[in-house]
Amino acid sequence: MHKAIGVIDSGVGGLTVAQELMRQLPKERLIYLGDTQRCPYGPRSSTEVKKFTWEMVDFLLEKDIKMLIIACNTATAFTLHELKEKLSIPVIGVIEPGARAAINETVNSHIGVIGTEGTIQSHAYVKALQEINPDLHIQSQACPSFVPMVEQGCLSGKQVEEVVQNALLPMKGEMDTLILGCTHYPLIKNTIQRVMGNQVAIISSSEETAREASTILGFHHLLYKGEETPVHQFYSTGRIEVIAKITEGIFKEYVEHFDSVTIENAILRSLESK
Ligand code: DGL
Repeated sequence: MHKAIGVIDSGVGGLTVAQELMRQLPKERLIYLGDTQRCPYGPRSSTEVKKFTWEMVDFLLEKDIKMLIIACNTATAFTLHELKEKLSIPVIGVIEPGARAAINETVNSHIGVIGTEGTIQSHAYVKALQEINPDLHIQSQACPSFVPMVEQGCLSGKQVEEVVQNALLPMKGEMDTLILGCTHYPLIKNTIQRVMGNQVAIISSSEETAREASTILGFHHLLYKGEETPVHQFYSTGRIEVIAKITEGIFKEYVEHFDSVTIENAILRSLESK
């Protein structure tokens, strides 16, 4: 089997990035790991997020991946620089791609960012945006109630509508572009779009991240050139039911089309004992 791209998230959110990777790089094999058992990462300290992220990375390194995608904004905010420095394979996060996509989209230079407490408090988006354009007006807000809801598989309906409405009320105003600074949020994107109104462009970093992955793989001559159909592997540190349900929801067309997506349950006890 050819070497895979490793994708990590605290739970199911990174599947939105995996989906876009499959679309843009259909020949590449993915190994996905969601740390469902310890999700959410958002309220955790940077020390804890770093420790958990390294544990996920070690698990994937043992599987001999050729590239690592940190499909989690919180983990990207706290570990990207360290992982880039220490690993010998290319490492990509989701924050810079998201910032670039938003700058590409905005007309009035008013950009909003929503994410976990960890991501917002790290100011990683503000830094990434202002590094490109210091004159932007940026409004950031943490939405701690979104991730637990999504992890329970609650993706639409009255409860989601109410939670999103309450959380985003203070964000309504001049912005014409809103960054979903958490990979779980694209799973409730329709509700977020409805609440913000059609005049606001909703940005998720997945497309731009997959584009960057493609460019970097090409640059390092790592793109898979063979004929094997990829067999993706999905691992969760927690109960497989929720991740399986959401994976089926997201990948319906891909499962039918490729008939090769497999979901494995890896209760990573060894991680806990490290
Ligand atoms: N999906 C993750 C992110 O993009 C983390 C959510 C969480 O675990 O709090 O930030």
